[in-house]
Amino acid sequence: MKKIGIIGAMDEEVSRLKENMQVEKIEKKAGMEFFAGILSGKNVVVVRSGIGKVNAGICTQILVDDFQVEGVINTGIAGSLKNEINIGDIVLSKDCLQHDMDATGFGYKPGVIPRMEQSTFIADETLVDLARKVNKEVNPDIAAYVGRVVSGDQFVSDNKKKEFLVSEFQGYCTEMEGAAIAQVCYLNEIPFLIIRAISDKADNSATMDYSEFEAKAIEHTVHLVTGMMKQL
Ligand code: ADE
Repeated sequence: MKKIGIIGAMDEEVSRLKENMQVEKIEKKAGMEFFAGILSGKNVVVVRSGIGKVNAGICTQILVDDFQVEGVINTGIAGSLKNEINIGDIVLSKDCLQHDMDATGFGYKPGVIPRMEQSTFIADETLVDLARKVNKEVNPDIAAYVGRVVSGDQFVSDNKKKEFLVSEFQGYCTEMEGAAIAQVCYLNEIPFLIIRAISDKADNSATMDYSEFEAKAIEHTVHLVTGMMKQL
């Protein structure tokens, strides 16, 4: 991969990466600033997409069309859907789907996108393996799990909703952009990986935990993404 796109939804998720890189060019499109340059010796374009699936999808397509990235990494935070995955731990996407895609009225299963061959998008195995290896080197005390990321335009802070995401989709974590990025990468036939550090448990205490643990969780993903660029 000659050039990698790195997307974070929020400033907090990409500002440290921007500080760490040598910026060669900043371009504004669709209200987003694309920082092109070098991070740990690798050609990258770092961008804050904004929150939610539409922003994330648009951002990914711009990275493909206007910056010719050959792979995309999405970094940020997420709510855990598994008891053993704790705040601060990392989830690497095995695959992703949209938990709020609902055409059940037409007989489709929840999460299935009508008239598409695929609704679950599989992450690049080489990127997953590299992230696992690098995480052991740069975050030796932080566990990295490989599993399903379920995305929707909802901050999940409700026990019932959480139970649905677990029983219906067997999700490992939930967030608001990953599956949109994955779908755009699938349509453009380029590899992707979602890297999420856990900021909350996606339950009734999520809003409070999120505020407290967001910054710490982001630190783990910044170390991991920066480390990965050295070895890509
Ligand atoms: N990002 C971080 N925590 C989240 C949650 N509980 N739901 C959706 N997105 C999140």
